[in-house]
Amino acid sequence: MSPIRTLISEAEIKDRVRQIGAEISKDYNARTPTLVCVLKGSIIFFADLIRVITLDVNCEFAQTSSYNDKTVSSGEAKLVFNSKLNFKNIDVIIIEDIIDTGLSLTSLIAEIQRTTPASLKVCSLLNKPSRRIKPVRIDYLGFEIENHFVVGYGLDHAQKYRNLPYIAILDPNEIR
Ligand code: PRP
Repeated sequence: MSPIRTLISEAEIKDRVRQIGAEISKDYNARTPTLVCVLKGSIIFFADLIRVITLDVNCEFAQTSSYNDKTVSSGEAKLVFNSKLNFKNIDVIIIEDIIDTGLSLTSLIAEIQRTTPASLKVCSLLNKPSRRIKPVRIDYLGFEIENHFVVGYGLDHAQKYRNLPYIAILDPNEIR
């Protein structure tokens, strides 16, 4: 079974990633930001983005807990892994694949803020504002999408489809 239709093509993603990379390179000119890849969904976006940034960057990795039905969550997501514990005086950019309820990002931001970074910004390939529970500020955004279940370019359903080179909408029958 394959996803029902392409929502964002490989070429569109490539163009947008290049634009975001240029923006970050300009904004952080002469600095060396630390980019935090939020596992696992962000791996493809992260790998493509760092290669179009023309600055030195440091790469770190974090993972938040996932839960099956986020709409019934009590509003908490736990940080389960962070490759760097202290961001004091560091310019940090969190790299997400998608912001949905905002719960994962909110807990990661709180964790990083606690260590007093020099600055903290958020970059996400996708934003699904219709599902937001916690408000979050997105400094660099690829695409805003409707309330579709999307897979590909790092995003999964039951760990499948991460390796599709484009973003696709999944057949609702496949989601159950
Ligand atoms: C997804 C995605 C974000 C988070 C966004 O990760 O990669 O990190 O959910 O959802 P939220 O805004 O509702 O918190 P997931 O927990 O599915 O793990 P994965 O990246 O390993 O697939």
